[in-house]
Amino acid sequence: MKLLLAIVFFISYGCAVKDYLFKTCAQSGFCHRNRHYAKEVANSANFTSPYSVNSIESNDGVITGVIVKDLPQLDVNIELPFEITIVEDSFRFRLSEKRDPIPGHVNSDRYNETEKWAFKDQLAVDRNVQLSKSHHQADVKYGNHEVIITFHPITFVFKYNGKEQLRINEQQFLNIEHRRSEEDNELHLLPQESSFDMFHDSFDDSKSDSLPLGPESVAVDFSLVGFSNLYGIPEHADSLLLKDTSTKEPYRLYNVDIFEYETDSRLPMYGSIPFLTATKPDASVGIFWVNSADSYIDIKKDTDSSTVHWISENGLLDFVVIIEDSPNKVTQQYGKITGFTQLPPLFSLGYHQCRWNYNDQKDVLDVHAKFDEYEIPYDTIWLDIEYTDNKKYFTWDKETFPDPEKMLNVLDRTGRNLVAIIDPHIKTGYDVSNEILKKNIAMKNSANEPYFGHCWPGESIWIDSLNPDCQNFWNKKHKQFMTPAHNIYLWNDMNEPSVFNGPETSAPKDNLFHGQWELRSIHNLYGLSYHERTYNALLDRLPSQRPFILTRSYFAGSQRTAAMWTGDNMSKWEYLKISIPMVLTSNVVGMPFAGADVGGFFGNPTNELLTRWYQTGIWYPFFRAHAHIDSRRREPWLAGEPYTGYIRDAIKLRYALLPVFYTSFYESSINGTPVLKPLFYENPQNLENYNIDDEFFVGNSGILVKPITSEGEKEVQFALPDDEVYYDFTNGVLGKVYKKGSKQEVGLDDIPILLKGGSIIPLKTRYRRSSKLMKLDPYSLIIALDKQGKATGKLYADDGETFTKGVEVNFSVDKNTIRATVTGEYLPIPIEKITIVSGHDLVTIANSHVNINSNWELPFEFTSTHIDHDEL
Ligand code: GLC
Repeated sequence: MKLLLAIVFFISYGCAVKDYLFKTCAQSGFCHRNRHYAKEVANSANFTSPYSVNSIESNDGVITGVIVKDLPQLDVNIELPFEITIVEDSFRFRLSEKRDPIPGHVNSDRYNETEKWAFKDQLAVDRNVQLSKSHHQADVKYGNHEVIITFHPITFVFKYNGKEQLRINEQQFLNIEHRRSEEDNELHLLPQESSFDMFHDSFDDSKSDSLPLGPESVAVDFSLVGFSNLYGIPEHADSLLLKDTSTKEPYRLYNVDIFEYETDSRLPMYGSIPFLTATKPDASVGIFWVNSADSYIDIKKDTDSSTVHWISENGLLDFVVIIEDSPNKVTQQYGKITGFTQLPPLFSLGYHQCRWNYNDQKDVLDVHAKFDEYEIPYDTIWLDIEYTDNKKYFTWDKETFPDPEKMLNVLDRTGRNLVAIIDPHIKTGYDVSNEILKKNIAMKNSANEPYFGHCWPGESIWIDSLNPDCQNFWNKKHKQFMTPAHNIYLWNDMNEPSVFNGPETSAPKDNLFHGQWELRSIHNLYGLSYHERTYNALLDRLPSQRPFILTRSYFAGSQRTAAMWTGDNMSKWEYLKISIPMVLTSNVVGMPFAGADVGGFFGNPTNELLTRWYQTGIWYPFFRAHAHIDSRRREPWLAGEPYTGYIRDAIKLRYALLPVFYTSFYESSINGTPVLKPLFYENPQNLENYNIDDEFFVGNSGILVKPITSEGEKEVQFALPDDEVYYDFTNGVLGKVYKKGSKQEVGLDDIPILLKGGSIIPLKTRYRRSSKLMKLDPYSLIIALDKQGKATGKLYADDGETFTKGVEVNFSVDKNTIRATVTGEYLPIPIEKITIVSGHDLVTIANSHVNINSNWELPFEFTSTHIDHDEL
């Protein structure tokens, strides 16, 4: 019977997207009610909001007060206490509800621990806040910011440098569904409210949700003054620029296993980052909605402004407003709250070879050997679920993988690594699940009993990774499984959590976690809590080694400990195309370590698509090929010539650029700079940059890329973000100055790249089998001068493995002299070749072997070689 069930789930898993599995806004009680409320409020001529600020005061820089919700028909005021703090220079508003406890299993408070998972450890609170108030309004001042709060109707008007940028609740969509019983509900309803599905979920009766606390949603509107370009709130298979949803489904944030997802869609996906940004030439805004429950976001754009209606099923009304001069600053401020990306171990920026599945140890080692035979560098080979003994995680299938340690040793000889998958569903009936049950660290159902559902292994339980008691157990299991190898890392998949027989492909919302919190409240951060447990377990095993974990599900803060990928895409051109805005969006919201399955997960790519996908994939911060178990094998050499050669060239280019990627990650890890950077980050002054999502920069390197993502494409035309000079850098080879607006011919072997004047980039161009073997290789510098004959660039280098800080080298060129300023100790930095290009001249200082040990300079002269010359 179990086998049959597993087969049924497996087959259904392989079929096309089933959007009927997912609630639309109209089918989702809280979303339906809030859209209805907004419509009623907007349409009623003399609407009087039931909400008003009752009190507000300041104590040592923390502002507290109470908002009341007036229910005239009951002569009752609901008290909603709030707090305003300035955290890391940004404005945080946090509103709760006074509620009486309800006897039973569930915790009847509003969930208030999202911040515990989303925020970094310690936030700086600015006490230097001024509050002044009158009868009708209060004025909060901090830095160059001012917030005017009117008491009734409630509005928050944000000014930055004296100019209005944001108004909260201007539309009066503020709605806090207060605690009430089903019997009393009629009396509690406002005329504008609908009672749709407040106590009963009519979506799928077979998987009914007991809704033990009734309606609890929180919602409010944000009017962005003068902003029509909005970004963020992943994960959606959609454009970089967010769309108007007035006549569409809202964007939904609810982590689900959405198989064969469609593009151009607002449907929820595997991860959620409730952070939205907006940019115009003189200011940028970020709204971080600190809530981990199911959420819908409606966007309405007017000619030059936008309104965002944010709706969550429960939890606090908790948000941070960031207002700065530039988009880069907004991403940075967000990172100061949720933490910056981890600096990944160097190997993880190399090429990852994955498929579901490498069948056995011999298969792994054969594939491994073929890379060397075909002279294609790679760093990591992956094992999907079949390596286990019947999908029992923390075990090996003894027949197919009789000696994993030996396999790991062979990989290690050439600096290669293994990544193995460990999912949060644990098969019932073996020691790991038995222990989880015994230790009482499993997710529970609404009756507070362990929850049993179905996933890859058949009947499974789920680890309650919110429970601190699971950490020791998780540490122990990883230690046993992974010891003694040091070149094995982890993949955490299906952690939405995916439950094949659960509602909307996940677990029931009334399931319970540590603290008696419902899954409803913590749903979107479960994936984060799971991969953080794994991160801690890896650190516990090898404290000095930077862990690498790939996660499918994620939340705000996931960037601190994991990389993500865009899940189960398809071998079709449209999925190659959409992967770029998806990865860019992830970068905008502070999660730069992102990529898509190269080649497409479902289906079989043509050789042309596969080649173009590799040529695009080398730019994903996380660069991995992956394929479904039913797809044909497609390791790079199987494509045959000329494709294999083109794929090899692309992968080699990624390896040559590893110093650029590593340096970009380093910068991102200290200030949040995107590793894949949209054009409007480079120049927010040029409005044409705001809607470009098929072109990007690599960090601050000046490398501008426009991958080919259409079949049969023969030419490419770059949009230039500014007036600087750009040099042709196709395939990493310097060429002429690129003429603005010109079309370049491209062959299937071409990767269109430009290099911005004013850039200095460090490369490592010698072919090695893996990044580890490149460690001692010298660098080449490419210097592209700007219109003034100047350039700057950065290199960060360290051991690539431990937490020991390395060296930062800041290069510059001015007046025909190259200079390097060195901070830190990972030295020397050997350089074997320097190429300098200006509008007309090229200098190659070949064989100029220098070792940079400390601050250094080198004068040069142009040889006046014309840039058109063939030898370029
Ligand atoms: C999920 C993952 C996919 C993986 C498969 C089997 O579909 O998204 O990458 O190969 O599970 O583990």
